[in-house]
Amino acid sequence: MNIDRIAATRHTTKAFDATRKIPAETFARLETLLRFAPSSVNSQPWHFVIADDEAGKSRIATATQGGYAYNDAKIRQASHVIVCCVRRELDDPHLAAILEQEDKDGRFASPEAKAGQHKTRTFYADLHRHEYQDARAWMEKQLYLAFGTLLLGAAALDIDACPMEGFDAALLDEALGLPARGLTSVVIAALGYRSGDDFNARLPKSRLPAEAVISRL
Ligand SMILES: Cc1cc2nc3c(=O)[nH]c(=O)nc-3n(C[C@H](O)[C@H](O)[C@H](O)COP(=O)(O)O)c2cc1C
Repeated sequence: MNIDRIAATRHTTKAFDATRKIPAETFARLETLLRFAPSSVNSQPWHFVIADDEAGKSRIATATQGGYAYNDAKIRQASHVIVCCVRRELDDPHLAAILEQEDKDGRFASPEAKAGQHKTRTFYADLHRHEYQDARAWMEKQLYLAFGTLLLGAAALDIDACPMEGFDAALLDEALGLPARGLTSVVIAALGYRSGDDFNARLPKSRLPAEAVISRL
């Protein structure tokens, strides 16, 4: 697989073919990319809400009113839409659940190793919860690692994607009942296959020159 070629040729799809569905086994591979993305201290502060039918996509599209209307058709015509969320709180029960999962997955040779891992994770969590007071932003950074992995992975699997921050997060949270689940929406991915109306597929890619964004010591 020519990974840099995929990065240089994938594009944001502006119009989807509503008649084409991503096969279930292919979509399952995208779910694996999300679940196995790395995160600081394995914090996994994310949750992904998926819609693949009219009813689900309509609920998501309620958040594209007003200035976000340009994203409405992308959500409705995509095969699948993923609402990428973070936790509202980086709370102790979540940290404990991760620790127990790591234990179950066989990562600790001794109780001391388990305690050490918990201490390290709590140190970083406390840094962001208390000292920097940026826990929400920190969780979003982790989410975007999974999001970037998803976009590149989708392209590698010949699936078109449209990343979207253009929606009303408060409206979407209400429409999906996210506050009651301790979640809030951050970014959306519409996934499927481009239609002939996808003008972006015909435009050349544009990026700043390498020397503007990369320097060497
Ligand atoms: C986090 C994020 C949010 C974005 N939000 C939107 C959006 O709401 N609607 C849209 O049409 N494109 C959106 N884009 C697409 C960007 O405009 C696009 O990635 C950028 O222009 C580079 O083009 P390319 O993805 O085709 O390489 C978003 C991209 C990212 C990464």
